[in-house]
Amino acid sequence: MPFCALEQLNKLYDGYKRAFCVNGHNVLLLQEEGKLYIIENRCPHMDVALEYADILPGQKIRCRAHGIEFDLNSGRAGGPLADSLDCLKHYTPVYHGSSVGLDI
Ligand code: FES
Repeated sequence: MPFCALEQLNKLYDGYKRAFCVNGHNVLLLQEEGKLYIIENRCPHMDVALEYADILPGQKIRCRAHGIEFDLNSGRAGGPLADSLDCLKHYTPVYHGSSVGLDI
């Protein structure tokens, strides 16, 4: 799989969040509490894009459509629908020189 750069490392900071389309995959690159995440830019509830979602303390993301919170590390939803929803889809960040991206 070819490496696809998303961002320069020196442009990342806590609170960074940006959507990309890579080879037909919509992904969201974000950094929170010093940790980098690449997730599918799609809420598992009703497929709404997560680029405008709120990042919450405790490494969580809350979809603005219906307020469901997902743990960024496990991808699991919280609340009463937790067991019925798929987890967020994660991609592994790949570091190449001064860039981060993914193999896709
Ligand atoms: S579409 Fe995200 S919470 Fe409903």
